[in-house]
Formats: sequence, C-alpha cells, structure tokens
Amino acid sequence: MRLDKFLTETTDLSRSDAKKVVHRGDVTVDGEVVKNTASAVKDGMRVEWNGEHLELMGLRYLMLYKPANVECTSKPGLYERAHDLIDLPNVERLSIVGRLDVDTTGLVLMTDDGQWNHRVTSPKKACAKRYRVTLARPLEGDELARAVEDFDHGLMLDGEEKPTRPARLEMETATVGLLWITEGRYHQVKRMFAAIGNHVEALHREAIGDVELDPELEPGECRFLRPEEIASF
Ligand code: URA
Repeated sequence: MRLDKFLTETTDLSRSDAKKVVHRGDVTVDGEVVKNTASAVKDGMRVEWNGEHLELMGLRYLMLYKPANVECTSKPGLYERAHDLIDLPNVERLSIVGRLDVDTTGLVLMTDDGQWNHRVTSPKKACAKRYRVTLARPLEGDELARAVEDFDHGLMLDGEEKPTRPARLEMETATVGLLWITEGRYHQVKRMFAAIGNHVEALHREAIGDVELDPELEPGECRFLRPEEIASF
C-alpha cells in the first residue's frame, strides 16, 4: 500500500494532509524518514508519524449505549451524532447498523464491515430486536390480550401495504413491557402502539439478536464487540 494511503487508513488525515506530513519529513518507515508519498508500505514495516506507531485497523464492530438527544445520522444536524461519541480514528467510516430515533435510547451497533451490517439488518434474516417500552396509558386485561394477539398476527400500519411481521409483547407492569420485533420499519414500535390506541413515552433497545447492551456501559459509552458477539450474526 502507498504510504499516503496507509496514513489515511490509520489516522484522521485526508489524502492531501497525509502527503503534506510525508513531504515535511514527519513520517518514518523502519526508523528512516521517507518523503516519497508513493513509497510502498509492506507487511511487517513499522510506520511512525511524529513518533507515534501507526497500525492498520482490521474491520471494526462496536456497541454504543445511545443516550437520548443523539442522532443516528452521518450528516451534522441539530443534535449531537452517534459518531461524535466515539473517539476512534476514521470514525466516519463506521456505519450504523439499524438506526434509533433521536429520543430512543439503548443499543446501537456500528461497523465498517458492510457484509456483516447486511447480515444484521437484512429483512430476510429476521433478526430479533428487543425493546423496553414505556406506555402513556396502562395496557392490561382484555385490551392487553387483544394487543398481544394483534402484534402476533401482524398489524397494518398507516400508509403501508404489508402487515408487520409477528411480534411478541410481554408487559411487566401495566405501562412497561418488552417487545420483540424482527423488522426495522420507520418508527415501527411507536406506530405499532399508536395503531392500538396507545402512545410510547419512552423506548429503549436492549438487544439485537443475541447481543445485549452491556450493563457496564453508561449512556454515551461504547466498546468493541467480542468475537462471539460478532460471530453470532
Ligand atoms: N421503533 C421506533 O419507533 N423507534 C425506534 O427508535 C426504534 C424502533
């Protein structure tokens, strides 16, 4: 790989800034200053920029505990972005694996592995997502029994042509419950509860497939996924 490309892969430098630091003599390869940006970096060579050892990153897989008022978008907007919470080089290369609404909290996966992203989000894989839902109105008795049945059979949401896939609902109290869905339609959980005449006051994603939000993470914190979590999809 060319030296300037190696620098863009291992740091936040743009290609033109990478060329500048190389021309300036800030970069060494195996202890020697190299000023040729096209110079080849081969396996086992040690590249340093201002004394800092640079290493190529493999594919990255992270979980983030998304707080409220953080947006799952790559474009800067009104809110802080999920990417802004992650202190890693080339963070913009990470894609969000299934977005959450700005007011929804909980588990967000991020990766630069496009195939893995597809495996998690492809509708064909029907990967289950578990949400903790807080409702505005109590849902109990016959109304709860009807909701469980409706969710299990699938609901027609406003403006859609196909019913939702079977979803499982278990209420823990009259207003707090767990919902498992295997799709990711726009505002899906909120629209499902709106369709049965209720309103979601708070929404928190606890799990995607077998990957659970790490209880050690505080809102805004992230960690790399473990090999078994990556392999679970
Ligand atoms: N369903 C919603 O309505 N919002 C989310 O953020 C996720 C699922």
